[in-house]
Amino acid sequence: MAAKQNELDPTDFAPVVGGVVTENQSFDSSESTIYNWDYGVNSQALRRLYELGKNSQWNATQDLDWDTDVDLEQDLFEPDAMVAEEDWFKKLTPRERTHLVTEINTQTLSQFLHGEQGALIATSQLVGSVPDMDGKFYAATQVVDEARHVEVFSRYVREKTNGAYDITESLFGLLKSVSAESRWDFKFLGMQLLVEGLALAAFINMSGRCKEPLLKRLLRLVMQDEARHVAYGVLSLRSYYDDMEQQQRRERQEFVYEATIRMRDRLFSTQAHERVGIGKKLIEDFMTRSEQVKKFRTLMFVNVVPNMKKIGLLNGFLEQKFGEMGILALQDFDSDALLQSYIAGDNSPAADRKQP
Ligand SMILES: [Fe+2]
Ligand SMILES: [Fe+2]
Repeated sequence: MAAKQNELDPTDFAPVVGGVVTENQSFDSSESTIYNWDYGVNSQALRRLYELGKNSQWNATQDLDWDTDVDLEQDLFEPDAMVAEEDWFKKLTPRERTHLVTEINTQTLSQFLHGEQGALIATSQLVGSVPDMDGKFYAATQVVDEARHVEVFSRYVREKTNGAYDITESLFGLLKSVSAESRWDFKFLGMQLLVEGLALAAFINMSGRCKEPLLKRLLRLVMQDEARHVAYGVLSLRSYYDDMEQQQRRERQEFVYEATIRMRDRLFSTQAHERVGIGKKLIEDFMTRSEQVKKFRTLMFVNVVPNMKKIGLLNGFLEQKFGEMGILALQDFDSDALLQSYIAGDNSPAADRKQP
């Protein structure tokens, strides 16, 4: 991570509109593995979450109606407000607007899909590396959740859209740094709190605009799982940093800051615009100056910032950096209430399971 420090010059907060990763990736990871002979309950809260995880399982092949006839250009989405208010967007013909909005949404769904693969791999590593049995149990249920998420986003993108987009360099950079990291708490910080916290906010945003019934239900089921995953991250780290010495704590804060920058920049991609023939320069300019984009970017951190406060990392270096990024004001948002509302949203998808 140290080699990347130059990218984090605090005087330069201009987002990077980066490239994509097209080849399959293979690299060594070196997470520590812990066998623990204490099989007793150390955290009642984690065991309750584990029970909830088991009771909330759903089956992607049975609980979603894949026969739904999806008309991408008619009933998928309203355009996002940050695009709809733009002069260049208003000048497009209705046909061009529909095409662009459809492709932007497919691009977003594709990044969700790639992010879910990262979550699948990182969570499988947690089973071995997290010390307590309570944590291993919960991680095991999350592995199944994440496999299901890869399954549903992959199937939706392949069967219902014009085809998947490649993963952005910024998102892959973060997934790689999480899965190659040896220390278990870094995996929690990068995956459970950052990637999942942002994903939950993005799912809520997309679900609110979505009119297509299959995707709306798919997102609702995924959001319920993701809210548990974020809660797992907070519970696991809540007191972990209390007695940690300053140098080690600072290392965590730098990791979080770099990951935050990467997650912000993953939103900046021109792939969809290029696919429909809109100039890259115009879009890059829009993405770096639009007030709507800035607002959207800030709101994406609605879970991340308060959760960093809850685990005791939002002070010193990180407090200063979040302040410079303009997201510090989110620190007092009641993210627990948001998580609980989704966790409790529907605990028994099997109850209204579609009969074969
Ligand atoms: Fe997921
Ligand atoms: Fe997740």
